[in-house]
Amino acid sequence: MSKIEDKIYNYYEKSLGRKPDKKGLSHFLTKYENGESLEVIRNEIEHSEEAQILKMKEFEKKPLDLFSTKPKEDIQKIFQDNAPWYHWMSINGIEISDTRTSKAYQMWISQNIPKDLTNKTILDIGCADGFYSFLCESRNAKKIVAMDLESFDLSKNKTIPPKQNPNNFKILKNIINSKVEYKKLDIYDVQKLNQKFDYVLMYGIYYHLYDFVSALQKISDMAIDSVFLSGHILDTHDPTMYYYKMQSKSDIKKGFSSVVASANCLITIAKEICKFKTAECVDIITTDYGSIYPHTHGSTKGKIGLFKFSK
Ligand SMILES: C[S@@+](CC[C@H](N)C(=O)[O-])C[C@H]1O[C@@H](n2cnc3c(N)ncnc32)[C@H](O)[C@@H]1O
Repeated sequence: MSKIEDKIYNYYEKSLGRKPDKKGLSHFLTKYENGESLEVIRNEIEHSEEAQILKMKEFEKKPLDLFSTKPKEDIQKIFQDNAPWYHWMSINGIEISDTRTSKAYQMWISQNIPKDLTNKTILDIGCADGFYSFLCESRNAKKIVAMDLESFDLSKNKTIPPKQNPNNFKILKNIINSKVEYKKLDIYDVQKLNQKFDYVLMYGIYYHLYDFVSALQKISDMAIDSVFLSGHILDTHDPTMYYYKMQSKSDIKKGFSSVVASANCLITIAKEICKFKTAECVDIITTDYGSIYPHTHGSTKGKIGLFKFSK
């Protein structure tokens, strides 16, 4: 191991309590080769999204490991054959790597889902690969419905053919023999489910909606206890909402948001328009969006908020 690699290993161990993965190591080695100082690299690791999450006291330290009766080799092959994946997953200790969201991020999001869901019903809107639905199942929920419009195809950003069904939900459901029900459904048609749910998960979806307010009104009518929501937020205390004009097809392809609101704006919408009794911002992290958005003023860094709206 070179002296520089050794330093990067040290920074990882100190800030993240783990060894660097291949991608991380090569990212920082390239930065160093391009003239970045070790000080800047250490700072980046120390202030990374993962490091911020690990410092939180509410953070769930034990990540979810799902169970399957399938042999290890079969699980590994399914993971490889169906890449790319949206969610980090672990089944029988075998993990999916190179996912859109990380293990630490997903456990951060999961912190406001009650630990015991016995006799509770859950609706997971925009479920993607289904991590949060399967987490609720592992927490003993009575019934879980996962729904998605299947509008977000990760393969569109890569040089591989688009998938028939962009989500890997059904594949995972089969591997772990899950009882979660799946529906391909638009959030604006959610009332077609004709059911009420104790908890509704709305993670990473509000900023993709051109009419978030009417969607949340519909959800409010069907939520018995609480709605848990997460998403990009504006870094201001003002109750502001920012509407984007989609400039080109590539904006949509990149999953560019149609709207971004401040935490106070989301709270006001929840309480004043959608009739939730309480609405709170549970936590906020800074993350690297990977692109520059107009509201981040030239930076790729932005905020993500985690919310709880209760009836
Ligand atoms: C950014 S991903 C978030 C996935 C997951 N909830 C999470 O937080 O990890 C947004 C998901 O919402 C879905 N989606 C987008 N618009 C939707 C709509 N109108 N109705 C239902 N699902 C939608 C997309 O297909 C995608 O799977």
